[in-house]
Amino acid sequence: MADIVELIYADHDWLRRQFFYLDYATSDGELKAVWDVLATRVDTHADAEETVFYPALLKKGQAGDPEDETEDAIDDHNKIRNAVAEAGTHRVGSKVWFEAVGQARTENGKHLDEEEREALPDFIKSTTSELRHQLAMQWLQFYAEHQAGAGVNTEDKDAAGYIEANS
Ligand SMILES: [Fe+2]
Repeated sequence: MADIVELIYADHDWLRRQFFYLDYATSDGELKAVWDVLATRVDTHADAEETVFYPALLKKGQAGDPEDETEDAIDDHNKIRNAVAEAGTHRVGSKVWFEAVGQARTENGKHLDEEEREALPDFIKSTTSELRHQLAMQWLQFYAEHQAGAGVNTEDKDAAGYIEANS
């Protein structure tokens, strides 16, 4: 069976590694090659979680505090999205670009760590393998329908409104 938790963890590993690859880049062209794909994936990942994972956590989570976990995630996703968008307004390799990418990296790192300590463990303890399989399939469909960032929602979200709409 497929597993939404495995797919999210795999994405987290991939995102961390791509941020790391920026450190190996030796030209603006190499930076751009890594960043363009990474930035798109960061935004797609946040939208996929908000579409597939957090609504299920809000309805099924009980081992922790799903509303608090979701509020933290939405607020973090907004910070990460804003930093990615800021980077997109600057020339790749410029000082201000590095600052925005550094901000995205810092916020993303903090967020993944918190998600892996709170939201995912709550979900693991509160759900069945059947649900994890169903959500994995929805996750794969989401990625198929949003290739190269097509149609990804990068708008800021109001955490309280999101929680109310998805509980
Ligand atoms: Fe997330």
